[in-house]
Amino acid sequence: MISTSGNLFLSGATGQIGSRLVHELVRLGRPSTLLTRNPEKATSYWDSALTPDKRPLVRIVGGDPQIPGDWQEHISEATGVVNLVGESLFAKRWSTSFKQTLRDSRTRPTVLIRKTLIQANNRCPWVNASAIGFYGASGPGIMDESSPPGNDFLASLSGDWERELFSNPIEGQRRIALRTGIVLDPKGGALAKMLPLFRLGIGGALGLGTYPTSWIHQADITGLIIHALDCEKVDGPLNGVSPHPVSNREFAKTLAKVLHRPALFPAPVFALRTVLGEVAMAIASGREVRPRVALETGYSFRFPFLEGALIDLLG
Ligand SMILES: NC(=O)c1ccc[n+]([C@@H]2O[C@H](COP(=O)([O-])OP(=O)(O)OC[C@H]3O[C@@H](n4cnc5c(N)ncnc54)[C@H](OP(=O)(O)O)[C@@H]3O)[C@@H](O)[C@H]2O)c1
Repeated sequence: MISTSGNLFLSGATGQIGSRLVHELVRLGRPSTLLTRNPEKATSYWDSALTPDKRPLVRIVGGDPQIPGDWQEHISEATGVVNLVGESLFAKRWSTSFKQTLRDSRTRPTVLIRKTLIQANNRCPWVNASAIGFYGASGPGIMDESSPPGNDFLASLSGDWERELFSNPIEGQRRIALRTGIVLDPKGGALAKMLPLFRLGIGGALGLGTYPTSWIHQADITGLIIHALDCEKVDGPLNGVSPHPVSNREFAKTLAKVLHRPALFPAPVFALRTVLGEVAMAIASGREVRPRVALETGYSFRFPFLEGALIDLLG
């Protein structure tokens, strides 16, 4: 293990995962530079979230990660890069043009970061977001980092994203594709969307309820990013999921139990599809994904089991 001291460069770190990551980096006393398209908002958030003695640990830089700009200078001297940029899958229905937006918002920043690192000959570790959608939305078998890609839209999106991450390698640099599962966080993402219905006692499994849900507690996705930066043995794809996925039905039952509410009948997929469009299939299906690399490289999950994770987040 080595410690990545010095300044980390973070993009897409104003979102659900990134803001938790920055809080953890501040707790560890590790300085970072955050790229955002909305520096005023980020500055006001971090000014109020941090005590004056901690504020120097977070530097805000304005810029669009899809467009070349001065922000790239901050990458040249970085001691580690974490890129989490990506338009939310849930922002709109998946029209052809929105699919292109989803793709561009992931591949373009990745290309620009790669080119900047190469130009500066900076060999610092680079963690780039990806998703378990890489393995395809449904199908039998347990997926680990050596499993082949799927053949649906999310698989091709993640495949393109990772291709840009891994092309033109710099000798001696570790590049990590963080294939993230469903991050559990009551402040954002899938859990925040489910909570209102479950709190009313009208939540339930989606579709047949038999599909696996490969989830991870927000503290563990943050922990895994820091593990990936620090641990020399992590290089290449890294699944960001807990070691114990559950079925969709089990997920709904456990969430209802933790909230002391009933879990109702499954919501039919055709109803979801009417409301949400193609993204419904991505929500209602899922793959059983295991964190082989995390476990083999010594990461110790704080919340390996769903009930404990939900009690921590909601109890
Ligand atoms: N959360 C999950 O459960 C999950 C699961 C699998 C994969 N992932 C992936 O992990 C990454 C981080 O997830 P998250 O949930 O933290 O995402 P998030 O909350 O939606 O935040 C993503 C960040 O990306 C930037 N961004 C969004 N759209 C952009 C665009 N069109 N152009 C440039 N920048 C844009 C935003 O930064 P500014 O607005 O500050 O510029 C935003 O803070 C994403 O790439 C996501 O696809 C997340």
